[in-house]
Amino acid sequence: MSKIIVAIDGFSSCGKSTLAKALSVHMGYVYVDSGAMYRAVTYYCLQKKLISAAGKFDEKKVVNTLKKIKLSFKYNPYAKSSDTYLNGDNIEKEIRQMKVSNHVSKIAMIKEVRDRVVDIQRTMGKEKGIVMDGRDIGTNVFPGAELKIFMTADIDIRVQRRLDELNSRGEHVTYEEVKINLMKRDYDDTHRKESPLSKAKDAVVLDNSDLNREQQLEYIERLIKDLLLTKDTLSI
Ligand code: DC
Repeated sequence: MSKIIVAIDGFSSCGKSTLAKALSVHMGYVYVDSGAMYRAVTYYCLQKKLISAAGKFDEKKVVNTLKKIKLSFKYNPYAKSSDTYLNGDNIEKEIRQMKVSNHVSKIAMIKEVRDRVVDIQRTMGKEKGIVMDGRDIGTNVFPGAELKIFMTADIDIRVQRRLDELNSRGEHVTYEEVKINLMKRDYDDTHRKESPLSKAKDAVVLDNSDLNREQQLEYIERLIKDLLLTKDTLSI
């Protein structure tokens, strides 16, 4: 059966990675979390003190530092996805911290950062058989992806999901802090100049405010089954 690219875009904390991971396991595909790459660059900049406590940074210095960053990914069988490595160090846990979330959308606005990261993403998708989630996957990284999903959910449901996730990792933040962070990121992601978050014309909208994981997976698996059947019939 021919391989396809599944592009999943949407707002922060909509459950994109949960769905993408489950789909990749179901299809035997590679899962790529594109946001992890922007988080890794942000984490490096924080480590190197290129971002002030107030969130200010010199764009030129950030761009200059890109040449010192080597990103790689290694499959983690426990997580059923790849861990992110920065210059050889596993930074999977570090990039999920709130301090990274607070600055990542500004770093992800920089054109040179996006060019570098998109290059890596396109290389990873060359052979297809990939499920990638992010903000611009269906619109910019893989505009020809066979299946595009645009995810959304009610803001308060997203805040609660993110809060539960952070708490389960021992990071204690308030509901308000998470809500402010998500609203800021939604704004930055949809209003930036470079590849803003938007629904691709041919994307399927999935509002999962009232859907559990199984219902979402079942719905998308059905779409994929139909798509693969049609695709293989057409390519005979
Ligand atoms: O999916 P995430 O929350 O881990 O992504 C972190 C940030 O990276 C998000 O605020 C916007 C940015 N991002 C992006 O601009 N383009 C992508 N394809 C993925 C993420």
